[in-house]
Amino acid sequence: MESQKIGIVGSGLIGRSWAMIFASAGYSVTIFDIEPSQVSNALKLIKSQLEELSESGMLRGTLSVEAQFALIKGSNSMEEALAGASFVQECVFEKLEVKQKVFSEMEQYVGDDAILSSSSSCIMPSQFTENLKRRNQCLISHPINPPYYAPLVEIIPAPWTDQSAIDRTRTIMESIGQVPVTLKKEVPGFAVNRIQYAIIAEVWRLVEGGVLSADDVDKVMSAGLGLRYAFLGPLEVMHLNAEGMQSYMERYTQSIQHVLGNFGPTPTFTGSGLERIIKEMDAKIPLDKLEERRQWRDTRLAALAKLKRDLERE
Ligand code: NAI
Repeated sequence: MESQKIGIVGSGLIGRSWAMIFASAGYSVTIFDIEPSQVSNALKLIKSQLEELSESGMLRGTLSVEAQFALIKGSNSMEEALAGASFVQECVFEKLEVKQKVFSEMEQYVGDDAILSSSSSCIMPSQFTENLKRRNQCLISHPINPPYYAPLVEIIPAPWTDQSAIDRTRTIMESIGQVPVTLKKEVPGFAVNRIQYAIIAEVWRLVEGGVLSADDVDKVMSAGLGLRYAFLGPLEVMHLNAEGMQSYMERYTQSIQHVLGNFGPTPTFTGSGLERIIKEMDAKIPLDKLEERRQWRDTRLAALAKLKRDLERE
């Protein structure tokens, strides 16, 4: 169990999730938010979520709800929240000016060994760390929503990030049961959104081109490809679907190139195609049912995460 201190800056959805994940592995966590009521609200929400997770058998780690909650504190001072922290996870609004301001404040309150990590989904680390004194200690650890059940974390360094900060972040992420992948350099969209947007583009073309309905195109993932991808990535799927990768490429290169050559340009995501997709999605899940459906999603992701953990233990 860890005795290191973690600072969390920003106590919205993602800040609360990180706090719970770190505490589940025994780290002491202090949460700061610019809005004091957000901190007290976050502590209340975390307590009730830990209780619900325990009741449903989904609580992470070996510590009791009380022990995990006791590891999480709130503070209305960034200085106090970050004092002595070895790792700080920033979770404020996704706005460049806010990230720049918060990073320039955070670097004043940590020592030479601390890592300053951002949850940013799309802003590249060089954009808000370039002019900092401690820029070599900064990187992004981008989680996937909901982080409590989807353990992937993309680590994205800026060109000036120390290799030791990257290596230590990977070790910390593994110690809390997350699954880190490290980008060797920053690229727009990082890895997750580049791959996700490639899928969105083709799904859009198939619906816009009248090949599949919106409901059916989603089933291609949820009842087909997604089931495999819950356990293996596309490269391993290829390796297993022939006598290894070389044999797969000998068999299928021509047909892959033929199909890829048939892809249209990047959709504009406007006009009648957009209207049709919005209409179909609103009919399938009306806007006043979104919260219900999110809970449905989280219950299923939790069960899948548990299944994967149980299978790995076998
Ligand atoms: P949120 O809007 O739920 O919470 C942001 C929190 O930051 C608020 O409590 C706000 O009061 C606080 N805040 C704003 N300015 C601040 C400042 N100067 N100092 C301290 N606290 C400040 O946002 P959410 O969804 O938790 O996102 C946080 C970060 O995580 C963003 O960078 C987002 O892109 C990233 N992220 C979000 C995901 C999601 O699905 N929501 C998934 C992965 C990453």
